[in-house]
Amino acid sequence: MSRRPNLAVVGATGAVGTVMLGILSARQDVWGEIRLIASARSAGRKLSVRGQEVEVVALSEEAFEGIDIAMFDVPDEVSAQWAPIAVARGAVVVDNSGAFRMDDDVPLVVPEVNAAAARLRPRGIIANPNCTTLSMIVALGALHSELSLKELVVASYQAASGAGQPGIDALREQTAKVAGTAVGEQTGDLRAVIGDNGPFPAPLVLNAVPWAGSLQEGGWSSEELKVRNESRKILGLPNLRVSATCVRIPVVTTHSLAVHAVFEREVSQLRAQEILARAPGVVLYDNPEAGEFPTPNDVVGTDPTWVGRVRRSIDDPNALDLFLCGDNLRKGAALNTAQIAELVAAEFLG
Ligand SMILES: NC(=O)c1ccc[n+]([C@@H]2O[C@H](COP(=O)([O-])OP(=O)(O)OC[C@H]3O[C@@H](n4cnc5c(N)ncnc54)[C@H](OP(=O)(O)O)[C@@H]3O)[C@@H](O)[C@H]2O)c1
Repeated sequence: MSRRPNLAVVGATGAVGTVMLGILSARQDVWGEIRLIASARSAGRKLSVRGQEVEVVALSEEAFEGIDIAMFDVPDEVSAQWAPIAVARGAVVVDNSGAFRMDDDVPLVVPEVNAAAARLRPRGIIANPNCTTLSMIVALGALHSELSLKELVVASYQAASGAGQPGIDALREQTAKVAGTAVGEQTGDLRAVIGDNGPFPAPLVLNAVPWAGSLQEGGWSSEELKVRNESRKILGLPNLRVSATCVRIPVVTTHSLAVHAVFEREVSQLRAQEILARAPGVVLYDNPEAGEFPTPNDVVGTDPTWVGRVRRSIDDPNALDLFLCGDNLRKGAALNTAQIAELVAAEFLG
């Protein structure tokens, strides 16, 4: 029988959850009840969704009563513990954390690239990719489907909000501290003025920090390995060669990536631009003569992946160099989760 499914947003008060409520209010409304869940700290707070004030409830087993689809926008350990509980209570979970992404029996879904995978969910959990991977994969998936991807070399320029609300708060505080001062001109003087770096390993304001995540074998960061492993899984290319260097820059929201992509087939600049121009979810903004290329400032608050600076490699006719920007809280997190949840909702709506 066709019916509107009931939705829970777990982590409704966080950086991703806040954007999610805006997205749910703006997109086609396919939902029955929308229940907002966060930690006990936030219970009783009222948040606006679909033009209504909804009271936040604390995470508990009972909070999933009658819920058909539960989005999880919470830290890894909270998802790891609570997603199976939500499933046991009858919900399909769409998880934004890193807890399940690489599990073989959990699909990792980007609707523009591998929507069909969302139907095969033996554990009742669908994972949403990491924001850095998501900020490039829609455009790369479109190029791959015509040119067959062989290798990626990626440098990211990641926003503070990739570290959640604490990242946003830290960048704002650091910006206030340096305003009107001459810091940044002497070696190390930012550290003295900033004091606490917040969730970052060095001052972020007026700086670039080549680190995101935790230290892994061989000197890689966890974020860099996520870009490699998740790209392979989403594209269904287990042998794709990927090298990433992830760098945090003082932008509040929107990740950027410089990508060198090598394909099986020869490619021209014009052909690549044609593919990108007609790819769903991609905006080609590529006219350097007119000063047109994406920057986080142009892209923040928008849904698509923006691509510019498309060039064929001078040294390799099978390779392209590109610059991509994507709002890490929208397509990089909340929007992709909402799109996946809508795929599942369609199963209820018939
Ligand atoms: N930021 C991004 O660009 C991005 C992109 C993709 C994926 N993600 C992932 O999405 C998830 C959320 O990230 P975020 O950036 O939104 O983080 P955040 O701003 O720190 O928000 C965390 C949310 O989780 C809730 N929470 C924390 N501990 C909890 C607990 N023990 N029980 C119930 N709720 C709890 C918080 O509720 P309270 O407010 O009540 O504490 C808050 O709603 C993370 O797994 C992150 O890796 C983030």
